[in-house]
Amino acid sequence: MAWKRLCGIFDLPVRGGRVFMDVADDLDLIIFRVEGGNVIAYDAACPHAGALLRPENEMGGVLVCYIHHWRFKVDTGECLDVPQCPLIRYPAQIKGFDVMVDPDNPLT
Ligand code: FES
Repeated sequence: MAWKRLCGIFDLPVRGGRVFMDVADDLDLIIFRVEGGNVIAYDAACPHAGALLRPENEMGGVLVCYIHHWRFKVDTGECLDVPQCPLIRYPAQIKGFDVMVDPDNPLT
């Protein structure tokens, strides 16, 4: 694993998300700071047609793609509309005050 510092924990909104562009080659990540203080990272490209997912389109733990409105569970990445197309998750953790990700080793 090649952990990489993405930002400080205070750079993420509480119970919200943020997109980080070009974290690695052709990879943008959408990071959510969730209940309990954990962070969850996904490929920010929608698995349907690649639209950039927007954290402001999250409500009640469900993220909605603004193009064709597929819905994803923030805590698992599951697609509620097409279950065989979940978000691609990446390892993410908080270390001290830093948000760390491993963009080379997708989990799903
Ligand atoms: S590009 Fe996201 S639902 Fe179609």
